[in-house]
Amino acid sequence: MALLGSRIVGCVMCGQDGRRGYLQHLAVEADLRSRGIGGALAERSLAALERLGIEKTHIDVLADNIEAQQFWVNRGW
Ligand SMILES: CC(C)(COP(=O)(O)OP(=O)(O)OC[C@H]1O[C@@H](n2cnc3c(N)ncnc32)[C@H](O)[C@@H]1OP(=O)(O)O)[C@@H](O)C(=O)NCCC(=O)NCCS
Repeated sequence: MALLGSRIVGCVMCGQDGRRGYLQHLAVEADLRSRGIGGALAERSLAALERLGIEKTHIDVLADNIEAQQFWVNRGW
C-alpha cells in the first residue's frame, strides 16, 4: 500500500503458494501516476517474494489493458 499522509494512493495484492508468487490489482490514484509509485509497489512486492525464496511470479493483466501491458513490458516482463 502507498500512503500520502493518511490517504491511500496506491495498492497491490501480492501472495504466494510456496513456489510461485502472484501479483494482482496494482493500482495508483489517477492524479498521482507517472511518479514511480506503481513501479515501487511492484518492486517491493517482488523483493518480498524473493526474500521468501520465490523467484517466479505471475502477474494478471487484462488483455485490453494496453497501458498496463506497456507498464510491465517496460520493466522486462
Ligand atoms: C499501471 C499503473 C499501476 C502504473 O502506476 P504508476 O504509479 O503510474 O507507475 P510508475 O510511475 O512507476 O511508472 C509509470 C511511468 O511513469 C514514469 N515515471 C516514473 N517516475 C517518474 C518521474 N519521477 N517522472 C516522470 N516519469 C516517471 C515511468 O518511467 C513509467 O513509464 P514507463 O512505463 O514508460 O517506464 C497505473 O497506471 C494504474 O493504476 N493504472 C490503472 C490500473 C491498472 O491498469 N493497473 C494494472 C493492473 S496489472
